[in-house]
Amino acid sequence: MKINEKIFATKIMLSDTIPLYTYLVKGKDFSVLIDSGISSMFQDIVGMVEESHSTNVRILFNTHPHADHIGSNKNLKTKYDLLVAAPIGSERWIEDMEYHYEQFCLPFPEILPHSDDTKQEILGLMDGGSKVDLSVSEGLTITLDPKTQLTTFTFPGHMLYEIGFIEHSTNTLILGDAITVYEAGFFPGHLSPRQYRATLKKLADLNREHHFTQVLTAHFEPTDAEGLNYLLHKIHYLIDEIDWTIHQILVDAGEPLSLEPIWKSVCDRMGRIYEFRGLAMVHAHLKEAVQDGRILQAGDLYMVN
Ligand SMILES: [Fe+2]
Ligand SMILES: [Fe+2]
Repeated sequence: MKINEKIFATKIMLSDTIPLYTYLVKGKDFSVLIDSGISSMFQDIVGMVEESHSTNVRILFNTHPHADHIGSNKNLKTKYDLLVAAPIGSERWIEDMEYHYEQFCLPFPEILPHSDDTKQEILGLMDGGSKVDLSVSEGLTITLDPKTQLTTFTFPGHMLYEIGFIEHSTNTLILGDAITVYEAGFFPGHLSPRQYRATLKKLADLNREHHFTQVLTAHFEPTDAEGLNYLLHKIHYLIDEIDWTIHQILVDAGEPLSLEPIWKSVCDRMGRIYEFRGLAMVHAHLKEAVQDGRILQAGDLYMVN
């Protein structure tokens, strides 16, 4: 589908309420893809390239190395002979599927051990590992033609390495999961609440500066500057709510608790399933709360003052 004169999209539904978008930015000299979805989206993405009448698809950017953003890398690389570009630090997640599984699904194997079903489910979303040709940081300018320029920004928090883009001629902000789904049966997770809050502030600052005409994300319908502010507010609340919930769990327990009961209790109280993404996220909240002196840690146990 066409978003505006420069940008095209493909969309599938991951569930009743959660879409997954990938994008193409078209220039006269060459075009770029932003994210490759899951492996089953390959033909849809080829269809998007055809709809856009792009003749030279030169780069595929992965906003971050989660399975639903890199799933068709290998097939797209083969079909278009393009370069794969991804944020610095994310390379091995994209190139080495065993490493991807271990890093993503086994953050604490003593709590959530290996499962063949989970491994097949996650690795099945991707068409295999592919080499990362360009490691991207903030401030890269990609000139698709003299009037069409993309600039890269780093937006860590959800993962420790994530990038997004501004397409200047249409004043469009393009993100992957820098804004995560906040109402779902699972936690999409964030690996650093502190970095995530800084990313939200950065997005709010950019939005004030540019007042974006369109804001495109992987898992929300296309929106605008107002819509972005609403999403930022929702994510701020989610991060705060997780901190408050952890604190209350420790107060209610009246004794020190380890990671596992804290994580399960956060899931129960906030109505989410027990899953590796939420486990890594709760650990990140605990780690930063200990660093900030809000929670005390003794060995494997956490407590409040
Ligand atoms: Fe993600
Ligand atoms: Fe995602």
